[in-house]
Amino acid sequence: MKKKVLLMGASGSGKTSMRSLIFSNNPASLTSRLGATIDVEQNHVRFLGDLILNLWDCGGQDSFMDSYLSTQRSTIFQHVWVLIYVFEVGARDAAKDAEYYRDCLDALQKYSPDAAVFLLVHKMDLVVGEKSAVLERRTRELQAESGSVAVTVFGTSIYDETLYKAWSHIVHTIIPNAAVLSKHLTTFARACSATEAILFERTTFLVIATSSSPDGPDGFDLSAARYERTSELIKALKHSCTRMREEFHALEMELPEFTAVLDGMTKNTYVLLIVHDPTIETAALKINIRLARPKFE
Ligand code: GTP
Repeated sequence: MKKKVLLMGASGSGKTSMRSLIFSNNPASLTSRLGATIDVEQNHVRFLGDLILNLWDCGGQDSFMDSYLSTQRSTIFQHVWVLIYVFEVGARDAAKDAEYYRDCLDALQKYSPDAAVFLLVHKMDLVVGEKSAVLERRTRELQAESGSVAVTVFGTSIYDETLYKAWSHIVHTIIPNAAVLSKHLTTFARACSATEAILFERTTFLVIATSSSPDGPDGFDLSAARYERTSELIKALKHSCTRMREEFHALEMELPEFTAVLDGMTKNTYVLLIVHDPTIETAALKINIRLARPKFE
């Protein structure tokens, strides 16, 4: 089951940078060395089982954009599952950006009318002043430009966890059995006396599914950004491991407030268990993960 994801937007808006961070485990600091993308670069990432994400990174220079919208129109825009359009927040030529975007949306409506559309207002780290106000204004403008097409807008930056939040959300929409996975994760978390269980994809570390939110009477103080922060931190750790010529396998943390175990679940996933009960041993959690593996394969 191959799902085509189009990544489009003006040249220099940051498409290849986000792709190299999420799919190739490169650090943000190295993205300035990336050259402009020539035509389309394709990536395949196997998610769960037979679900393959087929990412088309479309170089954004005008000559390429013109060609996608004319001679290559049907090739580019057919069988699209998701369109991700990247807008640089401080783009100098916003009018041209908007024109290309509307053309792409027209083509998408014709060849893949059911595709989901995600808009990323990118490089939010460069905004001086109130970020949320800028994002709200851009969101309103982009929704107006999209006419009757339903769009979801995210503010993103390669320098913080917002990128993982947006991409985890996007990937979640293409996983067919996400709700079933969440149900199984909730059962698994309860069986382990865990506060939460979170399933990540192995290469990208994007969140695939989570157990339902803990509803204990004590109300643990869990940050709303915890999933994307974890993706970002583990990716940084994996990168450090590579630099030390070591491979990342698993992680265990025993702190006074909580215990965390991160271990491979299936060929393509990792699971993170967070436990607030001090009597639960990490060894027991690891055995439980091992025993649950066949159920999640
Ligand atoms: P084309 O391949 O020509 O279509 O461009 P692109 O959209 O792939 O742009 P690319 O990823 O090559 O990024 C251009 C520049 O933007 C690089 O120097 C990146 O370091 C920088 N960049 C990417 N994302 C961010 C971000 O979130 N914040 C900031 N400040 N810079 C970014």
